[in-house]
Amino acid sequence: MAKGVALVTGGGRRIGAEITSELIDDGWYVLVHVRQSYEEANKLLSQKSKQHGGIECGSVVIADLSTDEGLASLIEQTNAAILTQKAEGLGALIHNASIYKSNDYGSVDLAELRMNTRIHIEVPFLLTQAFAVSLRAASGCVIGMVDTSLGRAWKGLSHYTATKAGLRQLMMNLAGDLAPDVRVNCVAPGAIMAAPWEAEHFASVIEKVPLGRGGSPVDVAKAVLFLIQSDYLSGQVLNVDGGWTVAP
Ligand SMILES: NC(=O)c1ccc[n+]([C@@H]2O[C@H](COP(=O)([O-])OP(=O)(O)OC[C@H]3O[C@@H](n4cnc5c(N)ncnc54)[C@H](OP(=O)(O)O)[C@@H]3O)[C@@H](O)[C@H]2O)c1
Repeated sequence: MAKGVALVTGGGRRIGAEITSELIDDGWYVLVHVRQSYEEANKLLSQKSKQHGGIECGSVVIADLSTDEGLASLIEQTNAAILTQKAEGLGALIHNASIYKSNDYGSVDLAELRMNTRIHIEVPFLLTQAFAVSLRAASGCVIGMVDTSLGRAWKGLSHYTATKAGLRQLMMNLAGDLAPDVRVNCVAPGAIMAAPWEAEHFASVIEKVPLGRGGSPVDVAKAVLFLIQSDYLSGQVLNVDGGWTVAP
């Protein structure tokens, strides 16, 4: 019997896939939400099933979160899976789906700003709200995947950093609103996996990381699991950045 049902948005590849894997290894039944990474997610679930003696470790849910219909479909599919699994409710909700593209401040148009706001703030707000009762029933927890940009000026990323700051504050507020039944925290990865367009910048960031290397998706996934397992932690932001945040 699984520990509970967890939903990882954008859980089919990169860091999300590692979070999925870590949760399955800890005994969770994971709903792996994807928009495009359906094949990757299916492959991951079959690998995990083999590794765990053939048990069903999770299932894939497809939804484009840029539309209201997509969001409604994710909520419906998740509720159906909770029923099928005979779980008390949703045990863990990981807001991992994200968009990350550089654009000069002067060139960001309303559509791009709205899409960043949509994925980083609106969707986590509405998704958590939709599952509030279910999360309470399972004494569940919520984790927002933010980053280490807060209070810094990251060139060409104002639309991204501003909306990730919104997600961080949303999570902090919900740590109060959903208490005492539901814990809400954030994980803030540092330099973990470069986007294809930022290889040069990424290398210059790593030079400033006190631990002298970039992090791995496993480092991030372990932090997510730590927060899930830590019953007295709520309203926290865990930086997984090799000390970058405190570097001079
Ligand atoms: N990579 C890093 O070093 C780093 C650093 C700091 C913070 N973080 C944070 O850590 C988390 C994971 O990072 P990552 O680099 O692995 O993320 P990512 O690759 O940029 O995005 C994760 C997933 O979000 C999903 N997504 C994007 N738009 C969507 C939409 N409209 N509808 C539904 N899903 C959508 C995509 O799913 P599909 O592939 O299925 O389309 C994508 O795989 C993110 O929240 C990110 O902000 C990462």
